Amino acid sequence: MKLILIGPPGSGKGTQARLLSKKLKIPHISTGDILREVVKNKTQLGQEAQAYMEKGELVPDNVIIEIIKERVSRPDCEKGYIFDGFPRTLTQAQMLDKIFKEKNKELDLVIQFKISDESLTKRLSGRLICSKCGADYNLYFKPPRVGDICDRCGGKLLPRQDDKKNVVINRLKVFKNQTKPLVNYYQKQAKIKDIDADKKSENLNQELLQLIDAEVNPNGLPEKQSFPAESAEE
Ligand code: AP5
Repeated sequence: MKLILIGPPGSGKGTQARLLSKKLKIPHISTGDILREVVKNKTQLGQEAQAYMEKGELVPDNVIIEIIKERVSRPDCEKGYIFDGFPRTLTQAQMLDKIFKEKNKELDLVIQFKISDESLTKRLSGRLICSKCGADYNLYFKPPRVGDICDRCGGKLLPRQDDKKNVVINRLKVFKNQTKPLVNYYQKQAKIKDIDADKKSENLNQELLQLIDAEVNPNGLPEKQSFPAESAEE
């Protein structure tokens, strides 16, 4: 099963992709996570990407496409994957179609996360990430038990570099100008469905699973099942 989650920064794509990945047993591919890893490792690619990311601009298409080609060729992608934050431009979407064609595969579903700018701003201004294990917290919605300390590993919690107010404003602008047009592209292919993402994580997760169950060939799911109504907490 091949899924794409599209939505503005902070709409919950990463949170939901991680949960879906566990339940559907297919990898979560986040170009943002891959880029943050190369930035952390200070590779040449990382240094180039950092200059774009800290301004909230998109990393050039040719870089992203190479990353994706390499990632989807790994054995764990055989049964499918969930893209989070890719594609983000028309060129990336067209290149992805080309990759599918070459591999004789087909995209199953694109899910667009709909949410107000007000909610996004609150989520992003409250986000904290563990500097040691990468766990995600939110001052408003998922606060740590003690101060700025990770519940899991005791690491220090820090805001994400690109969650500064002026960068968030630019990321939202970039989303509207460069990624939103993809909605039209996937509407023409009759592949896109909207979901109201302004709700509690566990409720959103159940709705997503129902939507996927209804839209994608049920045999594509690991088991045709009613998904357990367990907590969406990781
Ligand atoms: P990327 O990492 O993809 O960032 P983004 O799309 O801006 O998305 P975020 O990670 O900020 O938000 P999200 O929607 O995943 O929400 P999340 O679940 O984290 O990209 C970063 C940068 O990398 C880009 O700006 C660009 O420079 C570059 N890049 C990446 N991909 C690229 C590409 N394809 N092409 C070119 N450049 C690329 O949640 C956010 C917060 O809200 C968290 O604190 C979370 O706990 C909380 N939260 C989540 N769900 C809920 C809920 N239901 N209720 C309350 N709080 C919630």
